[in-house]
Amino acid sequence: APALQAVRQSIAEHGHLPGALLPILHGIQDQLGHVPAEGVPLIAEALNLSRAEVHGVITYYHHFRTQPPGQHVLQVCRAEACQARGGEALWAHACARLGCADTEHGGLSADGRLTLSPVYCLGLCASSPAMAVDDQVHARLSHERFDGLLARLNP
Ligand code: FES
Repeated sequence: APALQAVRQSIAEHGHLPGALLPILHGIQDQLGHVPAEGVPLIAEALNLSRAEVHGVITYYHHFRTQPPGQHVLQVCRAEACQARGGEALWAHACARLGCADTEHGGLSADGRLTLSPVYCLGLCASSPAMAVDDQVHARLSHERFDGLLARLNP
């Protein structure tokens, strides 16, 4: 399967490094858009770790996804500076608009087209609250501006 191929390739590229687990996971997600569950046993075996340890690291870092993302990825900042300026309300608004069942971690939208994920600082603290749509960052977001950005993704 192509997914396992990407897992093997990332292990081959990074497996010899000290602290190889994170580089391996990044390599897989860069290629596949997520870290598939079936890759966990391969990674565990290569690094001499338990599957639970590998799984624990994947779930600890918000960056890693275990499901393929939607067509667009929305990252809403939930770090301190944004929290102080409406970031949590923006996160809740985003969860509601996308219909994400998991209001803690976000995830796929109800229609499966978009992925919402938390991010912890986008470097735009001075003009918070901030978010990124795919690779583009947006600052000083209101709920209305969020809706406007969403409308552009859902023509
Ligand atoms: Fe949100 Fe820095 S805390 S951009």
